[in-house]
Amino acid sequence: MRGIVLAGGTGSRLWPATFAVSKQLVPVYDKPMVYYPLSVLLLSGIKDILIISTPLDTPAYQRLLADGGQWGISLSYAVQATPEGIADAFVIGSEFIGNHSCALTLGDNLFHGAGLTEILCKASTLKKGAQIFACRVDDPCRYGVVTLDKNGKAVDLEEKPVEPKSGYAVTGLYFYDNTVVGRARSLNPSERNELEITDLNRTYLDDDALRVEVLGQDVAWLDMGAPDSLMEAARYVEALVKNQGTRPGCPEEICWRMGHIDDQQLEKLADELQGTGYGRYLAGLPDRKTAATASSGPDAVRGNRPL
Ligand code: TTP
Repeated sequence: MRGIVLAGGTGSRLWPATFAVSKQLVPVYDKPMVYYPLSVLLLSGIKDILIISTPLDTPAYQRLLADGGQWGISLSYAVQATPEGIADAFVIGSEFIGNHSCALTLGDNLFHGAGLTEILCKASTLKKGAQIFACRVDDPCRYGVVTLDKNGKAVDLEEKPVEPKSGYAVTGLYFYDNTVVGRARSLNPSERNELEITDLNRTYLDDDALRVEVLGQDVAWLDMGAPDSLMEAARYVEALVKNQGTRPGCPEEICWRMGHIDDQQLEKLADELQGTGYGRYLAGLPDRKTAATASSGPDAVRGNRPL
């Protein structure tokens, strides 16, 4: 499976903070925002990832993330000339996707929690149809909204409805089979002149091929695109770092735990961040692994501990 992080857009809800800086490069506590959605794809077991951003901002992502070789993965880049919608990612990424299935994450979405890795690994085995995730929210009219029947099957999708039929927002993480490219190409732009992800999902719903998993209370989902939610996300990460000693959204750790890089490569990455808490965290990971193995056996190391 291939993965795409969509990191363009206008970021207008964060103006003026995002006048000169891409939203998804803004720091969220200890790391750039884009590390969080990138980590979700990595936790899904995906190693081939395309970052899509604006013509102006793409070089900054290349400077930050390079070709992914430092993390034992492959990162490539594509430009979205103007923000023509989330589903446009599959038109832009068609060559990259080739004959693979593909996951997409929005560059401003954070997912974290117990059991998330398991949910992601399951989703990444998808061969046919689409898998999306829903979350109960207080203000569904800001989102794509999915209505479920009593068996949890999707029966309706609406984009930012004035009077939502349900309280379930569609989150910014999607897994699709290879028909996604053709489906995206066949969409007509909406009234706001975008290729809408809700319209794309509706094609799967119409084919009875859309699966929806409702994220439970043990999984946090935060859209970091507005001042309050950005601050909330930073506080969430800070609490985990300070109270639990874990660092969510840490690609170096995930790649090391997944075996994409070895202890020596991790040490080199830690050295480059010398003098920071982030660097000390990376440097301490092998010792923590040894301690965990000694106290609880190997399963404690690569088990379901949220990252
Ligand atoms: P949004 O948050 O809906 O849009 P935005 O980032 O332009 O922000 P604002 O509403 O504050 O102006 O986009 C969700 C994510 O998808 C975000 O990471 C940006 C990305 N995106 C693109 O990269 N291209 C697009 O055409 C659109 C619509 C979104």
